[in-house]
Amino acid sequence: MTAHPNMPDNRNPEVAWTYHNVTKHSYTSIRTNPHFMDWSNQPLPFKIYPTLEPLRLPAEVRQTGVAALSAIAESVPTHTNASPDLEAVAQLLYLSAGITRKRNHSGGEIYFRAAACTGALYEVELYLVCGNLANLDAGVYHFAPAEFGLRKLRAGDYRRVLLEATGGEPAIAHAPLTIVCTCTYWRNAWKYQARTYRHFGWDNGTLLANLLAVATALGLPARVVCGFVDANVNRLLDVDPQREVAFSLVALGHADALPPPAPAEISPLGLETVPLSQREVDYPLMREIHAASSLDSAAEVEAWRCHTPKTDFPPPAGAIVQLQPLSDAEIPRDPIEQVIQRRGSTRKFARSPITLPQLSTILDRATRGVSADFLDPPGAQLNDLYLIVHAVEGLPAGAYIFHRGRGALECLKQGNFRADAGYLGLEQELPADAAVDIFFLADLRTIPQRFGNRGYRAVQLEAGILGGKLYLAAYAQRLGATGLTFFDDDVTRFFSPHAEGQSAIFLVALGHSAKHKPK
Ligand SMILES: Cc1cc2nc3c(=O)[nH]c(=O)nc-3n(C[C@H](O)[C@H](O)[C@H](O)COP(=O)(O)O)c2cc1C
Repeated sequence: MTAHPNMPDNRNPEVAWTYHNVTKHSYTSIRTNPHFMDWSNQPLPFKIYPTLEPLRLPAEVRQTGVAALSAIAESVPTHTNASPDLEAVAQLLYLSAGITRKRNHSGGEIYFRAAACTGALYEVELYLVCGNLANLDAGVYHFAPAEFGLRKLRAGDYRRVLLEATGGEPAIAHAPLTIVCTCTYWRNAWKYQARTYRHFGWDNGTLLANLLAVATALGLPARVVCGFVDANVNRLLDVDPQREVAFSLVALGHADALPPPAPAEISPLGLETVPLSQREVDYPLMREIHAASSLDSAAEVEAWRCHTPKTDFPPPAGAIVQLQPLSDAEIPRDPIEQVIQRRGSTRKFARSPITLPQLSTILDRATRGVSADFLDPPGAQLNDLYLIVHAVEGLPAGAYIFHRGRGALECLKQGNFRADAGYLGLEQELPADAAVDIFFLADLRTIPQRFGNRGYRAVQLEAGILGGKLYLAAYAQRLGATGLTFFDDDVTRFFSPHAEGQSAIFLVALGHSAKHKPK
C-alpha cells in the first residue's frame, strides 16, 4: 500500500505492518531461504576513522557498589542536578558497549561486548553530544570500543541541535550529555538480511538496559528519546543515512541552564571511514521502513510525543498465581558493574528448576518502567509478556500471561510444553531446555495508529530494553539467560485465543546454565 498523498509517511502505518509481515520467520521461510553467510565478505565489527587519533578513556572501572537488581528497577528523579565527568562517561560507555570478553574462533577473534547482540555483530555505534564536562571538552565524539577511546568529530557545544531536533524535549534541553545510538544496516544484514531492522530495536535496547542501569548507579537522571527529526541528527553526526542511521537518544544528567546556540553551521565533515566489507548488499525494505518511520520537522516530533495507547489486558479469566518477588532487604546485592561483566548468553541450559521467588524477582525488577518519550504516563508499556514455564518450583508447567499491575501470572493452559517451546524458538535446544521462556507480544495495529510507523521502532526498542533488563535480573541472581528468535505466527497461535491479534516481538529464555551445579 502506498502513502496517502496528503499524509506524511509516518502516519501511514501500513508500511510497518508490511515490513513486519514480510520479515516473519516460518517453518517454510527458514527452509526455503537460500541465504548463507559469506565469510570472505564478513563486515568489520567496528567503525574506524583512520585519520582521527582517539582520546583514550580512563580504563579503571569505578565500582558504584549499587546492587544490579536496584539499578535496573529504579531511576534518578528527572530534576536532580548531576553531570557526568570523564570517568563516569567511560563507565557508561564501557558497561554498555565496551569489549568485555575476547574469544578465538576459526575465522579470527570475536570481541564480545557488554550487552547481548544478535549474532555478536554489534551494529550499534555510540556518539556523544555534550557541553563542557569535567575533563571532557564540549563536542561531538564517536566512541571507539576497540581502542576504548573517543574520536572528536566536532569541537564545541552542539546540544542545541539535538534540542531543536527533538522539538524541545525537556530532558534533552537540560542534559549535559546526550548519547546518540546509531545502527549500521550492513553489519547485521550480512547475516540476518531484511530482518535486521527489527534487530536495531533489540540490540539497541539491550545496550540501553545496561546504560540506564549504570546511569542510575552513578546518580544520573536518564531518559530515552525516540522522537527526533532524523535528518538533523544524522547530519550532526555526519553519518551516511543509506548505511547508518540514528535510532535513539539518551539524555543523561540535568543542569538548569539551557544549551547555547550551536557554534557553527552543520557542515559535512568529509571524514574517511574504513569500509566494512569488500561489498555490501542492500536490503531496500529496511530503508523503506526507516524512511516511512522518519519524522521531518520539530512540529511533527512534538505532535508525536504524546500519550501511549493503553494496551491493558482484560482482567484475568483463568487461575492466578501471585508472584513472590524479593524485597529490597532480601535481594542479592551483586553490584551492577560485576553483573554486567559476568553476563554472557547462556549456550546450554540445565533442565533444573529455578524458584518462584527468582522468577518473580526477575519479572518485578525488569518491568518497573522505563523513562522514555514514547512511554507516557510513566510506567506505560507497549509489550505484553507471555511465558512458557517448564521448571519453576511452585508453579505448574504451562503457558501464562503476566499481569504487571497485579504482580500475578494467569495460567492459560497447563502442561509440558518443552517440545513446543523448542519449536517456537526456531527449533533450537535453548528454549526447550530453559526453565522458562518469556515471549513479548504487542498489538501492531493500535500502536502504529497512535505513533505511526515510528511506533514500530519504539515497540522493538522497548522489547530490547526490557529483554536486557531480564538478562541482568537473571545474572544478578546467578542464573543464565539468552535472547532468541522465533517463528512469528506460531508464537501468536500458541498463546491464542488470548494473544489473537498480537504480534510476536521478542523472546528471552531463562534458567540455570548447564555449567551451573544446583545445590
Ligand atoms: C535479541 C537477541 C536474539 C538472540 N537470538 C539468538 C538465537 O536465536 N540463538 C542463539 O543461540 N543466540 C541468540 N542470541 C544470543 C547472541 O548470539 C549473543 O548475545 C551474542 O553472541 C553475544 O554474546 P553474549 O550475549 O554472550 O555477549 C540472541 C541475542 C539477542 C540479544
